[in-house]
Amino acid sequence: MRPLVVANWKMNGSEPMLRSLVQALGERQNEIAAEVVLALPAPFFSLARALLHSSGITWGGQNIHSLKEGAFTGEISGKMLTEMGGRWSLIGHSERRAFAAETDELVADKVLACLDMGLTPIVCLGEHLEDREQGKTIQVIDRQLQAVMSVVRPEEMKNLVFAYEPIWAIGTGQEATPEMAQAVHHHLKDKMATKGSNCPSILYGGSVKAENVSGLLAMPDIDGVLVGGASLDPEGFAALCVNAGQG
Ligand code: PGA
Repeated sequence: MRPLVVANWKMNGSEPMLRSLVQALGERQNEIAAEVVLALPAPFFSLARALLHSSGITWGGQNIHSLKEGAFTGEISGKMLTEMGGRWSLIGHSERRAFAAETDELVADKVLACLDMGLTPIVCLGEHLEDREQGKTIQVIDRQLQAVMSVVRPEEMKNLVFAYEPIWAIGTGQEATPEMAQAVHHHLKDKMATKGSNCPSILYGGSVKAENVSGLLAMPDIDGVLVGGASLDPEGFAALCVNAGQG
Protein backbone atom coordinates (compact mmCIF):
# COMPACT_ATOMS: atom_id res chain seq x y z
CA MET A 1 0.00 0.00 0.00
CA ARG A 2 1.21 3.54 -0.74
CA PRO A 3 2.27 5.42 2.39
CA LEU A 4 -0.06 8.26 3.37
CA VAL A 5 1.46 11.69 4.00
CA VAL A 6 -0.88 14.17 5.68
CA ALA A 7 0.05 17.85 6.03
CA ASN A 8 -1.39 19.51 9.14
CA TRP A 9 -1.11 23.25 8.67
CA LYS A 10 -2.69 24.00 12.08
CA MET A 11 -3.47 27.77 12.26
CA ASN A 12 -0.82 28.68 9.71
CA GLY A 13 -0.53 29.40 6.02
CA SER A 14 -2.02 31.70 3.44
CA GLU A 15 -3.51 31.49 -0.02
CA PRO A 16 -0.14 32.23 -1.69
CA MET A 17 1.43 29.50 0.46
CA LEU A 18 -1.21 27.01 -0.64
CA ARG A 19 -0.54 27.90 -4.28
CA SER A 20 3.22 27.41 -3.72
CA LEU A 21 2.68 24.08 -2.00
CA VAL A 22 0.48 22.75 -4.78
CA GLN A 23 3.00 23.97 -7.36
CA ALA A 24 5.95 22.36 -5.53
CA LEU A 25 4.06 19.05 -5.31
CA GLY A 26 3.04 19.31 -8.96
CA GLU A 27 6.65 19.84 -10.06
CA ARG A 28 7.73 16.61 -8.34
CA GLN A 29 4.56 14.69 -9.14
CA ASN A 30 6.40 11.99 -11.10
CA GLU A 31 8.72 11.27 -8.17
CA ILE A 32 5.99 11.12 -5.50
CA ALA A 33 4.73 7.60 -4.88
CA ALA A 34 2.99 8.48 -1.59
CA GLU A 35 -0.66 9.44 -1.24
CA VAL A 36 -0.75 13.11 -0.20
CA VAL A 37 -3.49 14.79 1.85
CA LEU A 38 -3.65 18.41 3.03
CA ALA A 39 -5.49 19.17 6.33
CA LEU A 40 -6.19 22.85 6.00
CA PRO A 41 -7.74 25.76 7.92
CA ALA A 42 -11.36 26.31 6.77
CA PRO A 43 -10.74 29.67 4.99
CA PHE A 44 -8.60 27.83 2.42
CA PHE A 45 -11.14 25.12 1.55
CA SER A 46 -12.47 26.95 -1.45
CA LEU A 47 -9.02 27.52 -2.97
CA ALA A 48 -8.05 23.92 -2.19
CA ARG A 49 -11.09 22.71 -4.09
CA ALA A 50 -10.13 24.80 -7.10
CA LEU A 51 -6.40 24.00 -7.07
CA LEU A 52 -6.52 20.31 -6.22
CA HIS A 53 -9.33 19.36 -8.55
CA SER A 54 -8.12 16.28 -10.47
CA SER A 55 -4.56 16.64 -9.07
CA GLY A 56 -4.55 13.30 -7.26
CA ILE A 57 -4.06 15.20 -3.98
CA THR A 58 -7.03 15.24 -1.63
CA TRP A 59 -7.70 17.58 1.27
CA GLY A 60 -9.70 17.99 4.43
CA GLY A 61 -10.11 19.94 7.64
CA GLN A 62 -8.57 19.82 11.08
CA ASN A 63 -11.74 19.45 13.14
CA ILE A 64 -15.51 19.24 12.75
CA HIS A 65 -18.41 19.64 15.16
CA SER A 66 -20.15 16.44 16.18
CA LEU A 67 -23.50 17.75 14.87
CA LYS A 68 -24.52 18.60 11.31
CA GLU A 69 -25.83 22.10 12.03
CA GLY A 70 -27.11 24.34 14.78
CA ALA A 71 -26.40 27.31 17.02
CA PHE A 72 -22.67 26.72 17.47
CA THR A 73 -21.00 29.99 16.55
CA GLY A 74 -17.55 29.58 15.06
CA GLU A 75 -17.83 25.85 14.37
CA ILE A 76 -17.92 23.98 11.07
CA SER A 77 -19.70 20.70 10.39
CA GLY A 78 -18.71 17.59 8.52
CA LYS A 79 -21.62 18.31 6.19
CA MET A 80 -20.07 21.65 5.19
CA LEU A 81 -16.64 20.12 4.73
CA THR A 82 -18.06 17.37 2.52
CA GLU A 83 -20.08 19.85 0.47
CA MET A 84 -16.89 21.82 -0.20
CA GLY A 85 -15.20 18.68 -1.51
CA GLY A 86 -13.14 17.80 1.58
CA ARG A 87 -12.59 14.09 2.13
CA TRP A 88 -10.81 13.95 5.50
CA SER A 89 -10.77 15.52 8.93
CA LEU A 90 -8.26 15.36 11.72
CA ILE A 91 -10.11 14.44 14.91
CA GLY A 92 -8.91 14.76 18.49
CA HIS A 93 -5.53 16.34 17.76
CA SER A 94 -3.70 16.79 21.06
CA GLU A 95 -3.87 20.58 20.63
CA ARG A 96 -7.67 20.38 20.51
CA ARG A 97 -7.75 17.98 23.43
CA ALA A 98 -5.66 20.54 25.35
CA PHE A 99 -6.97 23.93 24.15
CA ALA A 100 -10.56 23.06 23.27
CA ALA A 101 -11.04 20.57 26.12
CA GLU A 102 -11.98 17.72 23.78
CA THR A 103 -12.65 14.57 25.79
CA ASP A 104 -12.31 10.98 24.60
CA GLU A 105 -16.12 10.82 24.37
CA LEU A 106 -16.38 13.96 22.25
CA VAL A 107 -13.62 12.65 19.99
CA ALA A 108 -15.63 9.43 19.55
CA ASP A 109 -18.77 11.44 18.66
CA LYS A 110 -16.81 13.39 16.06
CA VAL A 111 -15.51 10.15 14.56
CA LEU A 112 -19.12 9.01 14.12
CA ALA A 113 -20.02 12.38 12.58
CA CYS A 114 -17.21 11.92 10.03
CA LEU A 115 -18.32 8.40 9.13
CA ASP A 116 -21.89 9.59 8.80
CA MET A 117 -20.79 12.16 6.22
CA GLY A 118 -18.44 9.82 4.35
CA LEU A 119 -15.35 11.67 5.61
CA THR A 120 -12.29 9.72 6.70
CA PRO A 121 -11.42 10.70 10.26
CA ILE A 122 -7.72 10.81 11.12
CA VAL A 123 -7.96 10.15 14.83
CA CYS A 124 -5.01 11.43 16.84
CA LEU A 125 -3.78 9.56 19.90
CA GLY A 126 -0.74 10.24 22.05
CA GLU A 127 0.78 10.43 25.47
CA HIS A 128 2.38 13.29 27.42
CA LEU A 129 6.03 13.08 28.39
CA GLU A 130 5.07 12.37 32.02
CA ASP A 131 2.92 9.42 30.89
CA ARG A 132 5.87 7.95 29.03
CA GLU A 133 8.26 8.57 31.91
CA GLN A 134 5.84 6.83 34.26
CA GLY A 135 5.47 3.86 31.91
CA LYS A 136 1.84 4.75 31.15
CA THR A 137 2.06 5.19 27.37
CA ILE A 138 0.06 2.07 26.53
CA GLN A 139 -2.52 2.78 29.23
CA VAL A 140 -3.20 6.27 27.81
CA ILE A 141 -3.28 5.10 24.20
CA ASP A 142 -5.59 2.21 25.09
CA ARG A 143 -8.02 4.56 26.83
CA GLN A 144 -8.12 6.87 23.80
CA LEU A 145 -8.51 3.93 21.39
CA GLN A 146 -11.18 2.26 23.51
CA ALA A 147 -13.40 5.36 23.44
CA VAL A 148 -13.46 5.15 19.64
CA MET A 149 -13.83 1.36 19.48
CA SER A 150 -16.80 1.48 21.81
CA VAL A 151 -18.84 3.47 19.27
CA VAL A 152 -17.53 2.24 15.90
CA ARG A 153 -18.56 -1.23 14.69
CA PRO A 154 -15.55 -3.57 14.19
CA GLU A 155 -16.19 -3.91 10.45
CA GLU A 156 -16.28 -0.12 10.10
CA MET A 157 -12.91 0.43 11.74
CA LYS A 158 -11.18 0.09 8.37
CA ASN A 159 -12.78 3.40 7.36
CA LEU A 160 -10.73 5.26 9.96
CA VAL A 161 -7.11 6.32 10.03
CA PHE A 162 -5.29 6.71 13.33
CA ALA A 163 -2.29 8.93 13.97
CA TYR A 164 -0.02 8.12 16.87
CA GLU A 165 1.44 11.46 17.94
CA PRO A 166 3.43 11.45 21.17
CA ILE A 167 2.76 14.94 22.56
CA TRP A 168 6.39 15.40 23.57
CA ALA A 169 7.44 14.94 19.94
CA ILE A 170 5.06 17.53 18.45
CA GLY A 171 6.81 20.70 17.29
CA THR A 172 9.85 19.94 19.44
CA GLY A 173 12.25 18.61 16.82
CA GLN A 174 12.53 15.50 18.96
CA GLU A 175 10.77 12.72 17.09
CA ALA A 176 10.15 9.29 18.55
CA THR A 177 12.67 6.78 17.25
CA PRO A 178 11.27 4.48 14.57
CA GLU A 179 11.46 1.62 17.11
CA MET A 180 9.51 3.55 19.77
CA ALA A 181 6.78 4.44 17.30
CA GLN A 182 6.72 0.90 15.87
CA ALA A 183 6.14 -0.57 19.33
CA VAL A 184 3.02 1.58 19.86
CA HIS A 185 1.72 1.02 16.31
CA HIS A 186 2.16 -2.72 16.70
CA HIS A 187 0.32 -2.64 20.00
CA LEU A 188 -2.58 -0.69 18.46
CA LYS A 189 -2.92 -3.08 15.53
CA ASP A 190 -2.71 -6.06 17.81
CA LYS A 191 -5.38 -4.64 20.09
CA MET A 192 -7.75 -3.97 17.20
CA ALA A 193 -7.14 -7.41 15.73
CA THR A 194 -7.89 -9.11 19.06
CA LYS A 195 -11.19 -7.25 19.24
CA GLY A 196 -12.05 -8.49 15.75
CA SER A 197 -11.72 -5.05 14.16
CA ASN A 198 -10.65 -4.51 10.60
CA CYS A 199 -7.41 -2.71 11.05
CA PRO A 200 -7.09 0.87 9.81
CA SER A 201 -3.89 2.57 8.69
CA ILE A 202 -1.82 4.14 11.46
CA LEU A 203 0.28 7.24 10.84
CA TYR A 204 3.09 8.52 13.00
CA GLY A 205 3.23 12.26 13.80
CA GLY A 206 5.67 14.42 15.76
CA SER A 207 8.66 16.25 14.23
CA VAL A 208 8.56 14.33 10.96
CA LYS A 209 10.78 15.88 8.28
CA ALA A 210 12.30 14.98 4.91
CA GLU A 211 15.37 13.60 6.68
CA ASN A 212 13.66 11.16 9.07
CA VAL A 213 10.58 10.06 7.12
CA SER A 214 12.13 7.03 5.38
CA GLY A 215 13.42 5.56 8.64
CA LEU A 216 9.96 5.82 10.20
CA LEU A 217 8.20 4.37 7.17
CA ALA A 218 10.64 1.45 7.04
CA MET A 219 8.87 0.08 10.15
CA PRO A 220 6.29 -2.60 9.32
CA ASP A 221 3.37 -1.03 11.20
CA ILE A 222 3.92 2.64 10.30
CA ASP A 223 1.63 3.27 7.32
CA GLY A 224 2.21 6.98 6.87
CA VAL A 225 3.01 10.26 8.59
CA LEU A 226 1.20 13.35 9.88
CA VAL A 227 3.38 16.39 9.31
CA GLY A 228 2.98 19.75 11.05
CA GLY A 229 5.86 22.26 10.87
CA ALA A 230 7.59 20.64 7.89
CA SER A 231 4.43 20.98 5.78
CA LEU A 232 4.74 24.77 5.83
CA ASP A 233 7.78 24.80 3.56
CA PRO A 234 6.58 23.91 0.05
CA GLU A 235 9.89 22.59 -1.36
CA GLY A 236 10.76 20.81 1.89
CA PHE A 237 7.34 19.17 2.04
CA ALA A 238 7.57 18.07 -1.59
CA ALA A 239 10.99 16.50 -0.78
CA LEU A 240 9.45 14.78 2.24
CA CYS A 241 6.70 13.32 0.02
CA VAL A 242 9.31 12.07 -2.46
CA ASN A 243 11.33 10.42 0.33
CA ALA A 244 8.17 8.91 1.82
CA GLY A 245 7.48 6.97 -1.34
CA GLN A 246 10.96 5.47 -1.54
CA GLY A 247 10.43 2.67 0.95
P1 PGA B 1 5.00 18.64 13.98
O1 PGA B 1 3.43 18.53 14.27
O2 PGA B 1 5.29 17.89 12.72
O3 PGA B 1 5.26 20.12 13.84
O4 PGA B 1 5.71 18.05 15.15
C1 PGA B 1 2.73 17.34 14.02
C2 PGA B 1 1.28 17.50 14.41
O5 PGA B 1 0.98 18.16 15.41
O6 PGA B 1 0.38 16.96 13.72
